[in-house]
Amino acid sequence: LKPVITIDGPSASGKGTVAALVAQQLGLHYLDSGALYRLTALYALREGVSWEDEQNVARLAAQLPASFHDDKAWLGEADVSAAIRAEDIGMGASKVAALPAVRAALLTRQRDFLVPPGLVADGRDMGSVVFPRAELKVFLTASAEVRAERRYKQLIAKGESANLVQIQQDISDRDARDAARAVAPLRQEPDAHLLDTSDLTIEQAVGQVLSWFDK
Ligand code: CDP
Repeated sequence: LKPVITIDGPSASGKGTVAALVAQQLGLHYLDSGALYRLTALYALREGVSWEDEQNVARLAAQLPASFHDDKAWLGEADVSAAIRAEDIGMGASKVAALPAVRAALLTRQRDFLVPPGLVADGRDMGSVVFPRAELKVFLTASAEVRAERRYKQLIAKGESANLVQIQQDISDRDARDAARAVAPLRQEPDAHLLDTSDLTIEQAVGQVLSWFDK
């Protein structure tokens, strides 16, 4: 038995943090699917391929030399953990993620993360497309204000410059693109539990997911 828990939701909702902690507490593997889109965007940038060039971005996605080990994300031999978190790469990820051929190219790679003892997968379409038969589906969100504030604090903590108004704009652009795209638009699955973390601590959010999984 290889249980799957999917945690989908909008930008900066805290789903990455919650998903990683749930995986750790249950001793399951963790898939950060957004990192694959970010790696694809970074790879395209480095290869001089435009984020709008569907065919060529999909070709790069299909052969993405990406790996995750030692708590880091790698593109070939290069540690790109910090590079893929840059705001412009986040924007690029959201652009390449709107291309159907790119999503198709990353599908098998995402499913390959499901090996014993099971998986917690975080993204936009984990419960709808990638793992539709997951044991537990969570739609994790927070108000737009709270999400912008969290992203702002994250950037400041990393010692980066951050502008709250710009971040609010970026998040709403990304939400709009994720919701409007033709393939795998972001939406709550009918069988997903809604978890609004606006007023929850990380521990409370993790606790809620664990208690749903227990039942
Ligand atoms: O940090 P944030 O939540 O903004 O982004 P992320 O989870 O790292 O994902 C980066 C971008 O990839 C998102 O803006 C989505 O457009 C896209 N994405 C997607 O389309 N499908 C997924 N399963 C994961 C991410």
